Amino acid sequence: MKKQTQAGLPRHVAIIMDGNGRWAKKRLLPRSAGHRAGMNRMISLSEAVFDRGVEVCTVFALSTENLSRPEEELKGLFSLFREYFAKNVEKLVKKHILLKVIGNLSLLPEDIGELVRAGEEETKGGDKGTLVLAIGYGGRQDILAAVNEAVRRGREVSEEEFSALLYTKDLPEPDLLIRTGKELRISNFLLWQSAYTEFYFTDTLFPDFTDEELDKALKAYAARERRYGKI
Ligand code: FPP
Repeated sequence: MKKQTQAGLPRHVAIIMDGNGRWAKKRLLPRSAGHRAGMNRMISLSEAVFDRGVEVCTVFALSTENLSRPEEELKGLFSLFREYFAKNVEKLVKKHILLKVIGNLSLLPEDIGELVRAGEEETKGGDKGTLVLAIGYGGRQDILAAVNEAVRRGREVSEEEFSALLYTKDLPEPDLLIRTGKELRISNFLLWQSAYTEFYFTDTLFPDFTDEELDKALKAYAARERRYGKI
């Protein structure tokens, strides 16, 4: 008889929130309006993710490469991050959600680093779920920093030891990665961590990605057979 390997509910859902700029363009709005709509969608979508029993939700808010975008767009994104921390940390505490940020915060304005540290500290008792914001994050940079640390230690490391050198050290690997906005690529997100992640791509632009579409993605995941290279 065939062994049951159907995926069920993912423990960790990662999301590449693409298509905010195009969402705004379609409405003749500035790109910043698309990012704001994306942030608002991210806030309620992550709540829906935890309500369905998922333990960890990681969202790609800014990649290392995004930091080369025009200054005006970056300024807008930084202001959104500030606003997010000012208005949402309290809500996360009430909902028992732990906030964690992964990425190189030294690439961002200093006050954002401070907001991140305060947000992580205030939510540290959260046990209903973990919301991970990837800000100034790059998968290659994450791996390279771990390699350099292993070199400094002067000996070979195991897969487990290597994983423990990454930003994601305390997190399970993503089971499901959702990318909105039509592109079929991973764009330097969680490269090491997604070796056996199931991917779900949709044309829907992120601000239009509803809770119903989340359920569709979860249903598609539940029906996947995960074999991890075995038969
Ligand atoms: C890529 O789509 C998205 C980004 C570079 C930024 C995403 C950020 C947010 C949705 C805000 C999140 C806020 C917090 C506080 C985590 P794009 O805007 O480049 O879209 P495009 O491909 O249509 O131009």
